[in-house]
Amino acid sequence: MNVLSKSLGFSLGMILIFTLVANLLPQVEGEAPVEKKVDLGALTMDSYIALGETLFSGKGTCALCHNALGRAPDLLVMNVAGVSEEHLADERYKGKATSVEEYLHESMVDPGAYVVASFGKKGSNDTESPMPAVNKAPIELTEIEINAIIAFLQAKDGNDVTVELPTEAPPVVAVPAVGSAPASAATAEEALKKYGCQACHSMLGSESSVGPALNGIGSSQSAEQITLSITDPAAAIVEGFSPGVMPADFAEKMTVKELKMIVDLLLEQKE
Ligand code: HEC
Ligand code: HEC
Repeated sequence: MNVLSKSLGFSLGMILIFTLVANLLPQVEGEAPVEKKVDLGALTMDSYIALGETLFSGKGTCALCHNALGRAPDLLVMNVAGVSEEHLADERYKGKATSVEEYLHESMVDPGAYVVASFGKKGSNDTESPMPAVNKAPIELTEIEINAIIAFLQAKDGNDVTVELPTEAPPVVAVPAVGSAPASAATAEEALKKYGCQACHSMLGSESSVGPALNGIGSSQSAEQITLSITDPAAAIVEGFSPGVMPADFAEKMTVKELKMIVDLLLEQKE
């Protein structure tokens, strides 16, 4: 066989695997978020926090930069309140905040007040932030939306939520259209099923050689490495496997909770 027909055969094999796997994966389709009035009377802290999570990856576009790719501090992985306190105590801190809540608020509306070391604009020696003020165009979060994100950032690590529920002026916020966002999986096993991981990976009883076996991944890799492999498979390709096979859009599809549950479960897989 010459090289061309060999690689053609390989590509066809890949397409076949893709088709097979695509059919194994659940077909989820989301609808565009709609502008919707929130009924403040019915608003609980839990749903306010959930709104913050939706805004973090949706309208707020925070997840575009704040992820495992290193463009900005990975807020989803770090203990946000703990790090905020450290930065408040840093001698380089020149802002006006005196609490975690105020620090997070200031970080969003006046990012240049404190620039996290090594994340400043190129050539600015960490005096200018590349982060846009999120209360201004084009992001234009309202005060109620900003506070929802603060509540989410405090709650996700189990820290005290200090923001108060909004009480006045019914806000108009972007929430996913009713019935569009698939509910978050309740357990890690459910999440693996939802995203079809075991169709390609040997793990927890499944047998597949499309991707590397994950049975012992917790012995050799950190939470950060595993998170990166899931959210950006192209960042590093495991030896002996081809790029472009593992779906690249898990970062958009998964909820923060699902990603965390899966990473925690993989960390427990030791050999
Ligand atoms: C275009 C990229 C970008 C977007 C979009 C963005 N950020 Fe940032 N953010 C950064 C960078 C880079 C830094 C680090 C430099 C700095 O301190 O300003 C940062 C810093 C922060 C910090 C301070 C973190 C610390 O360790 O002290 C917080 C909090 C924060 N961002 C929250 C948010 C939230 C919430 C959103 C969405 C509403 C958001 N950011 C959107 C790039 C971004
Ligand atoms: C269509 C097949 C496919 C699906 C579905 C898939 N993966 Fe993968 N995965 C691969 C392939 C192929 C690789 C190796 C190439 C690479 O590194 O991107 C890989 C690599 C990985 C790695 C890196 C392993 C290592 O040793 O460094 C992790 C972790 C991982 N996948 C987790 C997951 C999780 C979790 C899911 C479900 C949310 C998933 N994969 C779904 C095919 C798949």
